[in-house]
Amino acid sequence: MKSLRTHALIGMLLSTIAFSQNPITETRIDSLLKLMTLEEKLGQLNQDIGTDRPGSKEQISEEQANLLSKGAIGSFLGIVGANETERIQRIAVEKSRLHIPLLFGLDVVHGFRTVFPIPLGEASTWNPLLIEQEARVAAAEASAAGIQWTFAPMVDIARDPRWGRIAEGAGEDPYLGSAMSAARVRGFQGKDVRDQGTLLACAKHFAAYGAAEAGRDYNTAEVSERTLREIYFPPFRAAVDAGAWSLMSAFDDIAGIPSSAHRWLLTDVLRGEWGFEGFVVSDWQAIGELQNHRVAGSRSEAGILAINAGVDMDMMSGIYLNEMPGAVRSKQLSEDIINLSVRRVLRAKIAYGLFENPYRNCDTLREKKEMLKPEHVALARKVAQQSIVLLKNESGILPLCKLAGTIAVIGPLADDKSDPLGPWSAVGRPEDVVTVLEGMKQAASPQTKILYAKGCEITGDSSDFATAMRFARKSDVVVAVLGEEREMSGEASSRSNLNLPGKQSDLLAALRGTGKPIVLVLMNGRPLILTSVSENADAIVEAWFLGTESGHAIADILFGAVSPSGKLPVSFPRSVGQIPVYYNHKSTGRPIADSDRFTSRYLDVPNTPLYAFGYGLSYASFKYDNLRLSSASIAKNQNIRVTIDVENTGKRTADEIVQLYVQDEVASIARPVEELKGFRRITLRPGEKQSVGFTLTTDDLSFYGQSMQKIVEPGEFKVFVGGNSVDLLETRFVLQ
Ligand code: NOJ
Repeated sequence: MKSLRTHALIGMLLSTIAFSQNPITETRIDSLLKLMTLEEKLGQLNQDIGTDRPGSKEQISEEQANLLSKGAIGSFLGIVGANETERIQRIAVEKSRLHIPLLFGLDVVHGFRTVFPIPLGEASTWNPLLIEQEARVAAAEASAAGIQWTFAPMVDIARDPRWGRIAEGAGEDPYLGSAMSAARVRGFQGKDVRDQGTLLACAKHFAAYGAAEAGRDYNTAEVSERTLREIYFPPFRAAVDAGAWSLMSAFDDIAGIPSSAHRWLLTDVLRGEWGFEGFVVSDWQAIGELQNHRVAGSRSEAGILAINAGVDMDMMSGIYLNEMPGAVRSKQLSEDIINLSVRRVLRAKIAYGLFENPYRNCDTLREKKEMLKPEHVALARKVAQQSIVLLKNESGILPLCKLAGTIAVIGPLADDKSDPLGPWSAVGRPEDVVTVLEGMKQAASPQTKILYAKGCEITGDSSDFATAMRFARKSDVVVAVLGEEREMSGEASSRSNLNLPGKQSDLLAALRGTGKPIVLVLMNGRPLILTSVSENADAIVEAWFLGTESGHAIADILFGAVSPSGKLPVSFPRSVGQIPVYYNHKSTGRPIADSDRFTSRYLDVPNTPLYAFGYGLSYASFKYDNLRLSSASIAKNQNIRVTIDVENTGKRTADEIVQLYVQDEVASIARPVEELKGFRRITLRPGEKQSVGFTLTTDDLSFYGQSMQKIVEPGEFKVFVGGNSVDLLETRFVLQ
């Protein structure tokens, strides 16, 4: 990584250019900085949390109010409500010496009051425009409740489903991940962050947090610079390019250097190479935790390391506020470094219009009007429909005929109003959630009889199979709704066993024993191991955690009002022992060959996942044909056009996601067997045929060479197009 030191220089130059981009803002900051004491400066870099005060509506303590009036707190997280944020903002603006407004942050990850599918579900839509709209709605609702800044999007690439936070991101692929990242930033921040209804975005967790060894949250990441640049960085770069105002430094260490003390990462790459002008906030107490990483021997050392590396705001350690004055006085830290961080924080506050209107999001009328607006709920239903992935549909058992006589709806998640909210559901409420049972009852024809039994709990041994079995026997079809509890994914929710928890697999096997057709609806925050489960179901509907409109969207799919169109943004392994399994793996020296034992393989399981990246079934069928290129050979810096005909050969109108992959056949560095470089969601009526075109640029063909510079090498490239990462048509061209 030393090879990139030179970039730091370029970076400083770039930043200077950026600073001078808005001279009025910078001059304003200059004047403020001149007035500020060291303590007031550090106050701007200090983030505190609202305190729960039973019996009181006030969300901060007297001590915090006191600190605030001294200018010792620059930001709060976890304070919600137009009234309360206004009250607290007033203390900052009216009582502190320099009247600098506070920034209120919250994790608005997949909706606010209207809860949308978890981000992994949303990534299954392969529909960035729709996800941009989702983020707009989340921002509209959250900003009406006083929030100004969201700790989202979470853009960590995750190749390990043991890691619970895989639920919060867009899965395993940097291309899809970048599209989702940019869409969310655009959605949160709007065209102009000063407009009503926007939030400042925060791309997190920089960097490689999803590479936690063994899938154990907060664990070390052992990642090469190449993999950082090719896999983990792109969604962050996309967020920066989309104008994200902040980034969060991760808890992990990358090859021994904690991300929150990583100068190469936070300064050389982020500011230097990418020209990022916003600010970096640490994750929760991550600065203090530098002592646990044992790279700092004291709180003061931890603070010095973090701020020198480029962490501008201290979330919850209190180290900047309390320890840095001493560090400056003892000349261990230059005040110029602090000034730089304060500048970045003030720049964001100014950009958001807080100096003009510190109460811009404190409007109780708007707060009342904005939550759960019909159009928000309608959008949540649409996103949920598109997030659903149909994994299996033996003999076309789905969609269920609306006139089906009796349906047994079985399972602990079938009438659950809380778990479908998923992890990080902001102020979402269980009472707003439509369960699968409710959704099905509303959608079914009056002649349909629906019997419901829980069967067992999600976890633990408590069960009542008897009723479930009795209902199953009486029915024409069984819909089993099984999965995880919402808190089994998200932060601090790693699992080593990815089977259905509790007695659920037994319940499914018992239901199978009745001989009735089984439709399995899954709710979960990660790929589960479905190898044996899939044998006990005729159809499998992967529904993730779909949020407020869960039951409506699932019923829409089950009864066929909408054809499923989601595609997996992450591979589903056959067994935990295969992990990590991801589609864009490299070619090994001994690629698997059935005839040869001494190739890269397992003795007991195939190398392939059970369900591959990009996979998902439809109620229609699609024929891919006539893959063609604009030219058989191109020169460097020339684009090539890839076109394919896609025809709906089924009987229903349906969406399909057309996917484009490339492979560099021979390169100076071992390259992935395939890499996603384009995708498009299209809608086709029965019999309709459409030509779908993609443009591949030289940049799409580039990679990091041995000296870690982006290069494009002449030679042959394969191009693949199809409806998932496995079933593909193939052609090739030459780059001269
Ligand atoms: C810790 C989590 O890692 C981070 O994602 C979140 O934004 C903060 N807590 C604040 O809630």
